[in-house]
Formats: sequence, structure tokens, C-alpha cells
Amino acid sequence: MTNKKSDFVRPDGRKLDELRPIEAKVGVVPNADGSAMYKSGDTVAIAAVYGPKKMHPQHNQDPSKGQLRCDYNMLSFSVTERIRPGKNRRAMEISEITKWALEPVLLLDKYPNQVVDVFINIIQADAGTRTAGINAAAMALAHAGIPMRGMVSSVAVGKLDKTLVVDLTKEEEDYHEGEGPTDIPISMTDDGKITHMQLDGKIGVTQLQEAVDLAKGACAKIYEIQKKALKDAIDLENGGKK
Ligand code: CDP
Repeated sequence: MTNKKSDFVRPDGRKLDELRPIEAKVGVVPNADGSAMYKSGDTVAIAAVYGPKKMHPQHNQDPSKGQLRCDYNMLSFSVTERIRPGKNRRAMEISEITKWALEPVLLLDKYPNQVVDVFINIIQADAGTRTAGINAAAMALAHAGIPMRGMVSSVAVGKLDKTLVVDLTKEEEDYHEGEGPTDIPISMTDDGKITHMQLDGKIGVTQLQEAVDLAKGACAKIYEIQKKALKDAIDLENGGKK
């Protein structure tokens, strides 16, 4: 089944390929070397970057290049049912995949024995927190002046029963009719190279290709918003002169 024929109605009335309203801003944590906020609907991520700085513990130092270290955390008040923040298996997995999503664009050869620390905190969660975190982190790294080949943008594509949709809410992630939900978070560079992709559920090869195409379109829109947020900050730092 292709999406073109679908008369599927999303719970919040969005078009199948429509993102939630996005807000993005850099420079939200003044003490950090770089920082950013990325909001998609009711999901809000804040990222702060510290470094490059000497890697501690010393035995983790790599004399051939600098390293990226990511720490994802959902704050206790980010969901209505209080969760225990900090290290748990889910947070550790998301920290690791965030690193995988971002590493391919970073040019860290010039920083032997050093580390760039990225802290991501989810202050409000309504699904898509890993993708919002990656979007915020990519902007924060650029804001910190870390040399990068390009930007990374991230979005979750989902299959609800048989229909593909972009940027799922928690209500959509919990869809229970027909084949149920499939969640596919995808991150890509601004020239369309995939740096991270996960799949939770079931999907055929043809529809997976369609999902990647939908993610490409969505990431192109997200990239423009990330770019504008960075440009606005540079303009502000230059005293408002464009
Ligand atoms: O957030 P993301 O979609 O990247 O990851 P997930 O593990 O699929 O979580 C989906 C959503 O479930 C989160 O965004 C939260 O809204 C919710 N959640 C929660 O309420 N309590 C948790 N301990 C974990 C997730």
C-alpha cells in the first residue's frame, strides 16, 4: 500500500508528512561553549557542549584524535508520570546512538587526547526525544565552533497500521489498531547521508524506502530551521548587523 491512496486521519489532524510546530534557538546556556534548544510540538530538548578539553579519565585518551561523548537524560518532570532521571538502559542506549548520529560530521583529528562533551536534557517529552536531542546537539556543536562537515537533522517516521507518518506523538507511538505502530528514527546530514537509523516494529523493504524518502523531506525542513537559528545567533553577536 502506498501513502498516496491513504485516507488515514492523524489524531492531531496533521498531514501525513507534516512536522509538529518547531522552535529552535542557540545560546540558551550561557556558561556552555555552545548550546541549543529544539522544540517539536510538546517535546523539548536542551543541549549544552563543553570542549574540546583534555579527556579524563586519562586511559580513555586517544592520541590520534579527539572524541565525542554524549549524555542523554530525561528530566523527572518531563512526563506527567514522574520518572527516575539519570542513568538507565534507555538513556545509555540513546546517549550512544546520539554519538553515532553526530560523529560522522565532526572533524576531531585536530584534537588528540581531547573530548567534546554533549549533555542533552529533555525537559518535556511527547515522543521523538532522541531525534529532538540530536537536532539540539548538532546545533550546539556548531554554536560551540566545533569543526563540522555539515549539519545533522533527525526525525522519526512511523507506520501506523499500514500508513506512513512523519514525527510521531506519544499518542501515535501507542497506536494499537491493525498492524500497530512502527517507529523509525532517522538522522541524516544536510546532503542526505544517513548517519543513524533505528527500527522498532515491522516494515517491508518498499515501505522502508518510502519512509527514508519521507525522512529526507522532513530533515530538509528541519535543517533550514537549524540553520536559521544559528544565523540569527551570529547576527545577534554581531550587534544585529546582517
Ligand atoms: O522519545 P523517543 O521517541 O525517542 O523514545 P521512546 O523510548 O520511544 O519513548 C517515547 C516516549 O515515551 C517518550 O518521548 C516519552 O514521551 C515516553 N516515555 C515515558 O513516558 N517514560 C519513559 N520512561 C520513557 C519514555
